[in-house]
Amino acid sequence: MRLAETTFATYDGLTVAVDRILRSAEVHASEQCLVAGAQPVRIAQFASGRRVARAAASTLGYVIEAIGSGPGGDPLFPDALVGSISHTRRHAVAAVGLSTHYRAIGVDVDDDRPLEPAATGAIASPAEIAVVMRVVSGTAPLLGASITFSLKEAIFKCQFPALQLRDLDFRDVLLSAPDGVTLRARARRPDSRLSELLVAMQLQVLKIGGARVCLALVPR
Ligand SMILES: CC(C)(COP(=O)(O)OP(=O)(O)OC[C@H]1O[C@@H](n2cnc3c(N)ncnc32)[C@H](O)[C@@H]1OP(=O)(O)O)[C@@H](O)C(=O)NCCC(=O)NCCS
Repeated sequence: MRLAETTFATYDGLTVAVDRILRSAEVHASEQCLVAGAQPVRIAQFASGRRVARAAASTLGYVIEAIGSGPGGDPLFPDALVGSISHTRRHAVAAVGLSTHYRAIGVDVDDDRPLEPAATGAIASPAEIAVVMRVVSGTAPLLGASITFSLKEAIFKCQFPALQLRDLDFRDVLLSAPDGVTLRARARRPDSRLSELLVAMQLQVLKIGGARVCLALVPR
């Protein structure tokens, strides 16, 4: 049996935890209703995501038992924490931060699987993908599209608890790097609350525990 080997990346008031999907990961009793009737693959992803979230929270000094789900599917952390969860078939990732340090956090993981070329037009313009490829050096075009997709999913998750924009579309947010090295997001739809949040949002693309992790952070 493979032993769990969670990798942690820690920053000021923030921990990102990454591990493999574990079929043996346990669903907390009060989380059972969130995956009732689900397929084993989904249950393993759900349980593994919450497992790494609890592990990340513990590095910040918090023991969390159940992590509920909001009506939009967003994970519910205790007031002292903000956090986000993502999983693929291989990896489970959670980013958890102290509420005193972060207003909102979004995380997304991809397994370096290129996005289908036919799908990229709906996600971003060629100029946005080129910017991401430049900032995340050594990235090939198909992977650039996939990282752009992942960044926008992290942005979606980051905005959701604060603004609850369920209909936020990929083309509603524009990625750029005004200084050539720092990714920024701008709103392309008239929404002053979204614009304000995006101005404060920091974007990072990291390699942690063999997974490519996109982070969207709004510091206090
Ligand atoms: C919700 C969504 C972001 C999930 O992303 P995904 O790549 O399908 O799946 P991931 O494994 O990365 O993330 C799943 C986790 O996201 C979290 N999540 C689900 N809905 C969420 C929401 N509304 N807000 C924040 N987090 C959410 C959950 O923790 C979920 O895992 P869990 O169900 O096991 O708890 C995606 O399905 C979606 O609906 N996106 C909307 C369109 C979009 O992203 N637009 C971009 C605008 S810039």
